[in-house]
Amino acid sequence: MNALDMVRRAVSEQLSPGDFAIDATAGRGYDTAFLARAVGKTGRVLAFDIQPDAVNSTRELLAAEGLNAEVVLASHADMSLYANPETASCILFNLGYLPGGDHSVFTHADSTIAAVTSGLDILKRGGLMCITVYSGGANGYDERDALLPFLASLDDGKYQVVKVSFHNWKKDPPFPIFIRKL
Ligand SMILES: C[S@@+](CC[C@H](N)C(=O)[O-])C[C@H]1O[C@@H](n2cnc3c(N)ncnc32)[C@H](O)[C@@H]1O
Repeated sequence: MNALDMVRRAVSEQLSPGDFAIDATAGRGYDTAFLARAVGKTGRVLAFDIQPDAVNSTRELLAAEGLNAEVVLASHADMSLYANPETASCILFNLGYLPGGDHSVFTHADSTIAAVTSGLDILKRGGLMCITVYSGGANGYDERDALLPFLASLDDGKYQVVKVSFHNWKKDPPFPIFIRKL
């Protein structure tokens, strides 16, 4: 069991054909493709990344697999320009840098917190947001250390926030956070 397994299982249980889902960090497109398969041809997937390399990779993967998603070269902080409130069943964030890309470009606390705030508005009641947090290494701890207190401050009458900790793992493993909109 690792962060990816847990997120994939939760997303599979959450999504049905015809749903709307958002990948806030498209990267190489694996999560976007996973969402596109889960919502099927009648669903909608919107994906964001700030790097042309990531947007191109994601579009190529989707084309190769015959899947559909709208892939936007924009910050996830601007997602409210592309999606209406209370419409998405699932929103994924896979934080950090682009694998096989420029490791000096990674997600940052200010835009991540802005995007999570927008995403919570866009999420339907009963919808699920999954955030996989990477820390240590090139991106350090600033994002994790700002995000966790922000998520702890969310109204517990409106959101359930579950943070998974890999208790005996060394070296800062990526960990998932699940937020259910009540
Ligand atoms: C760990 S990768 C995502 C992996 C991806 N989900 C996959 O399946 O391959 C993180 C991505 O976040 C992107 N990113 C960084 N800041 C961003 C922002 N403000 N808005 C959208 N994407 C951002 C990076 O360019 C990078 O491609």
